[in-house]
Amino acid sequence: MKPETSSGGLDGAVVLVTGGAQGIGRGVCESFHAAGATVVVADLDIDRAAGTAAGAARMSAVRLDLRDPASVTAAFEQAAERHGGIDVLVNCAGLYPNTPLLDLPVAEWDEVYLVNVRGVMLASQAFARLPGRGERRIVNISSAAARSARVGAAHYCSSKAAVEMLTKVLALELAPLGITVNAVAPGLIEVAATASLAADYVATLVAGQPVRRMGTPAEIARACLFLADPQASFVTGSVLDVDGGFLAGTALPPS
Ligand SMILES: NC(=O)c1ccc[n+]([C@@H]2O[C@H](COP(=O)([O-])OP(=O)(O)OC[C@H]3O[C@@H](n4cnc5c(N)ncnc54)[C@H](O)[C@@H]3O)[C@@H](O)[C@H]2O)c1
Repeated sequence: MKPETSSGGLDGAVVLVTGGAQGIGRGVCESFHAAGATVVVADLDIDRAAGTAAGAARMSAVRLDLRDPASVTAAFEQAAERHGGIDVLVNCAGLYPNTPLLDLPVAEWDEVYLVNVRGVMLASQAFARLPGRGERRIVNISSAAARSARVGAAHYCSSKAAVEMLTKVLALELAPLGITVNAVAPGLIEVAATASLAADYVATLVAGQPVRRMGTPAEIARACLFLADPQASFVTGSVLDVDGGFLAGTALPPS
């Protein structure tokens, strides 16, 4: 990564975003691109990833299946070869099905862990193994669900708690390579999947938040931009909550 400049530290950086085809990941791709970065949209859904990258100079797509170690290695090698290296990895891809414990199939538990936890480890490993060119950054997308339990989300909540601890362990292990590792924990964000949530569920949830609305992918991207910036070089092993104050406590009066 090139040293900080007054015109914005991400200008010219190469950024790979897992799950970049849609939702928060797409917002992250667009914001890094607007900041002058070269963006690789890495996703299982290659058609959608290609659609996200279409028409934008400095954006391209690569197929990545986080469940498959060979696919992860190949995607990072291909992206690094295309751009002469990768400076920033945003681990955004994640699954969040909702199934009560008593009905939870083992296969669904395993799938969530394969993508949300092992996938983050494999992508970080592949990224860290690439030859570095100065300081590099990993930003993991966690969730407020890592620290606030939710009914039907035993797999999801515990997988995101694992992502937050993984963030800290990787911060320790990768510091000697000049890689900082941080996480962003979003609250409820407006994407296609959350648009189909029941209106009363969303209304009840946001009514207890200091900021009484859902967040946007661009607001999560803003936090990623900060953590990826060369000026954030003293920040590592941290989790930044971007949740409208959801985790701060309940904003409803006790009456
Ligand atoms: N939307 C929210 O309210 C919210 C809140 C907190 C945290 N998050 C987290 O943010 C991240 C993105 O969430 P979103 O709502 O944008 O999700 P989304 O479903 O809109 O997008 C997820 C992307 O990940 C990709 N993906 C799925 N499996 C993959 C695999 N095996 N390999 C590679 N890519 C794969 C999908 O194709 C998709 O493009 C997730 O980690 C999620 O847990 C979301």
